[in-house]
Amino acid sequence: MPKITFVIGGKEQICDAAEGQTVLEAALEHGIPMEHACGGNGFCTTCRCKVHKGAENLSPRNDREQMMGVTADPDRLGCQAKILGDVEVEVTED
Ligand code: FES
Repeated sequence: MPKITFVIGGKEQICDAAEGQTVLEAALEHGIPMEHACGGNGFCTTCRCKVHKGAENLSPRNDREQMMGVTADPDRLGCQAKILGDVEVEVTED
């Protein structure tokens, strides 16, 4: 089972994630306050997060992320990036 480390406010929280689950789904399951104004449909960018480690263990950036301008590392949309292995992401609160 993949592990996802959320970094939020400088603190780390390590959680189990189901393979194929999105970063947003894992965050919500574990009570991590990741914004998701559009309900996880890739239309708002409030779930944007920064991948610190394990970018290769996320699904490739998809068309929705490209359309929303999330095109450069380390940024990903939490609702679009699927967890395939261990990863560490920073949840920003802006
Ligand atoms: S929740 Fe809106 S883009 Fe991810």
